[in-house]
Amino acid sequence: MSLRDEVQRLKKKRNAIILAHNYQRPEVQDIADFVGDSLGLSQKAAKTDADVIVFCGVDFMAESAKILSPQKTVLLPELLAMCPMSAMIDGDSMRQMKGQHPKAESVAYVNTSAEVKAEVDICCTSSNAIKVVASLTSKEVIFVPDANLGHWVQKTEKQKELILWPGFCPTHDSITPEMILTQRRLHPKAVVLAHPECRPEVLDMVDAVRSTEGMVNFARDSQANEFIIATEKEMVYRLHTLLPTKQFYSLPGVTCPNMKRIDLHSVVNALEKMQHEIIIPDDVIRRARLPLERMMAVGRGD
Ligand code: 13P
Ligand code: SF4
Repeated sequence: MSLRDEVQRLKKKRNAIILAHNYQRPEVQDIADFVGDSLGLSQKAAKTDADVIVFCGVDFMAESAKILSPQKTVLLPELLAMCPMSAMIDGDSMRQMKGQHPKAESVAYVNTSAEVKAEVDICCTSSNAIKVVASLTSKEVIFVPDANLGHWVQKTEKQKELILWPGFCPTHDSITPEMILTQRRLHPKAVVLAHPECRPEVLDMVDAVRSTEGMVNFARDSQANEFIIATEKEMVYRLHTLLPTKQFYSLPGVTCPNMKRIDLHSVVNALEKMQHEIIIPDDVIRRARLPLERMMAVGRGD
């Protein structure tokens, strides 16, 4: 039996749903029931009636699924599929920051641990970060952990004072203006789309800044036929799959090694051995749930 058939057989046996992020390997995207960005995946996890969620992504995404659907079994097929940005801030640092800025409301990008989420007023994703900050009443806003995303939000939300944490995504932070210029020279007619985790000097020179699913929507609605995609390279596979008549160009070498840890073997193993189950203490789930639900109520940005 092929690995794909084995996945289907085990999925039925376990009454499982497979959720995959847009950066997953093509063969994993192909067997998923749903592929999307952090917000779309959280929305799907919150309303599935499957017993088991196999989360093909990184740790914080699977944790969010568990917080939103605590009665389900959530499996992360590879233990080491961890987002390094999410590991850049912990609960103690978050509590310290809140102590230093008692008047500020606090926002955690979903790329954080459950422990950090449990400390904040609201979460956000790359899709709705601007909308989330705009929804707050305080002038001062603690925004963790991605400083690049924070700078991007600050540019629009000028009346707010964002207090940032020096976190970053190693994958997006490696994208330079020279890399964009090289692709522009190769594809002069292409529209350039970038993820807001890129550095400010990169975001300043592109045509639009979008979450990964926002890129799909932008390319679908655009009159343009060619796009340079400044984010993790597998995004281009998803775009090609959905919009086969358009051309998409990735930036050489821009990859997230943690997203690539999961393959079909690990999905089969996860379903067979029911591994690796996400376990979060009940009190952390209870406190982290409200900020995530507030984020979901704000909905998608663009
Ligand atoms: P999206 O929510 O835009 O898919 O981003 C998640 C992420 O980890 C980007 O690096
Ligand atoms: Fe984390 Fe960056 Fe990988 Fe996204 S691309 S999961 S932010 S390391």
